[in-house]
Amino acid sequence: MSNKKVSRRQFLNYTLTGVGGFMAASILMPMIRFAIDPALQAKAEGDFILTSQKIDELTDVPVRVDFSYEQVDAWYKSEVSEMAWVYKEGDKIIALSPVCKHLGCTVNWEGGEHKNEYFCACHAGRYEKNGKNIAGTPPTGPLDQYEVSEKDGYLMLGKKIPNTLA
Ligand code: FES
Repeated sequence: MSNKKVSRRQFLNYTLTGVGGFMAASILMPMIRFAIDPALQAKAEGDFILTSQKIDELTDVPVRVDFSYEQVDAWYKSEVSEMAWVYKEGDKIIALSPVCKHLGCTVNWEGGEHKNEYFCACHAGRYEKNGKNIAGTPPTGPLDQYEVSEKDGYLMLGKKIPNTLA
């Protein structure tokens, strides 16, 4: 039988090294995780957001569709709410941004008693149904469009693109 006794000093060294290492790892791991967290996040599936709007309920009259999504800005996550004006032209679905191209107020369909137009109450901006700005009113460009898609009969909205209709 070999004489490999551990001295009191060695025992204390091993124990303190183990406990110290464990404590250091406990402190460092969350810091490392925090530093690289955005790189570990899985990307959302596609760029489209599912809305509660049923496709077969859309008509040629624009309706307001509200939707929200989680926005990740580095370590800061927030819930963003947006809306779109959506209608059908034949089989084609048109989704327009409500953000006025003058100074960014929200436009309303047939607001201010303007029939068959979007109206911006801030400075009386007006747009045709396809988003084209009406000459002689403050907006200098058409409303942006959203990319559209469909899932199980429900509308999905993608990123904003320049208006292709006006
Ligand atoms: S912000 Fe819409 S008309 Fe000025």
